[in-house]
Amino acid sequence: MEQVFASMWLAAARADQLADPGAFVRRDVAGASVLIVRGAEGSIRAFHNVCRHRGTRLCHTANGTLRGSIQCPYHAWTYGLDGRLLAAPLMDEVEGFDRSGYALRAVASEIWDGHVFINLSPLDTHGATLRGVEGAGSPQPLAAQLGDLHRRFAPWQMQNLRLAHRIEYDVATNWKLVVQNYNECLHCPIIHPLLNQMHHYLGAENVPTTATYCGGAMGFKEGVETLSTDGKRRRNYLPGLSARDRELVNYFAIYPNFLLTLHPDYMMTITIWPVNTGQTKLVAEWSFHPDEMTKPDFVFEDAVEFWDRTNREDWAISEQSYLGISSRGYQPGPYSARETQLWEFDQFILKTIGRKGAGAQS
Ligand code: FES
Ligand SMILES: [Fe+2]
Repeated sequence: MEQVFASMWLAAARADQLADPGAFVRRDVAGASVLIVRGAEGSIRAFHNVCRHRGTRLCHTANGTLRGSIQCPYHAWTYGLDGRLLAAPLMDEVEGFDRSGYALRAVASEIWDGHVFINLSPLDTHGATLRGVEGAGSPQPLAAQLGDLHRRFAPWQMQNLRLAHRIEYDVATNWKLVVQNYNECLHCPIIHPLLNQMHHYLGAENVPTTATYCGGAMGFKEGVETLSTDGKRRRNYLPGLSARDRELVNYFAIYPNFLLTLHPDYMMTITIWPVNTGQTKLVAEWSFHPDEMTKPDFVFEDAVEFWDRTNREDWAISEQSYLGISSRGYQPGPYSARETQLWEFDQFILKTIGRKGAGAQS
């Protein structure tokens, strides 16, 4: 897990979740704890949540607003929202001590269409990504990891959407099983009675899988206009969508931790945070167009309830799946022709951890 999560870009937050100066979220992943902070001048930065004095965790709440600075709870070293060390009690007695050398360690961050990504690859003291550092994987700009997704999803104008609801789930499964579960609908007729009323389970049109994502789109059954508890659409189509886009739900797994589900009238995202081999935290967020959200009759519960129910069905079967594959009696079985994206995900994992694939797809 660490080889994947410590080298790739991870979807970590929405920029609109960090609207005001001092707003922050904390993400714990791959042995790191990271603070993502909106600075006083408006930019978003990420730092290791580790004091430069004796290493104490600075911030133990999951999110909130910092009042202009970050102060270590141990000996009160105090850092600005830009990470600079502002105050270090009694350190002026230490000969040669230079505060400027003890800013919080930066973590790379970039924004794609309103989604804030972080990358744990080591940075040099000026904040630049160190390329070719042993053990650092292959650091690259976010755009290189996303490939053509900028262009593909431009019509949804995701940066304009605003968060309406979030649910966090603690699931007793391995993070890879969550990605695998997302990437096939063979289980839909069995596991998802409601979702199965909305899509034909064999109706996915997948795009060719790349080194960093896989995905595709599914149309609706007759009379269904979006994924809601009854298939009715209670919000206008997102502006910018073509007639064809309005008829589809796009499902993309952007490796390693981002499940992006785009509907004709809203976006649902899930970010995946491995806690340990058998525990995963999942953060589901529903975002809508602000023009809809300001209407007096705006509702989102139909979309949230639909997906909360469907997600919980997926988490429950993924927990059973984890119990099975982690038991002594497990031997891997063959994939069907409808599970090619799972095989491709397996190859991505094997390649990332430097192992040869298990042979040709069959
Ligand atoms: S460990 Fe943070 S101020 Fe001492
Ligand atoms: Fe499912």
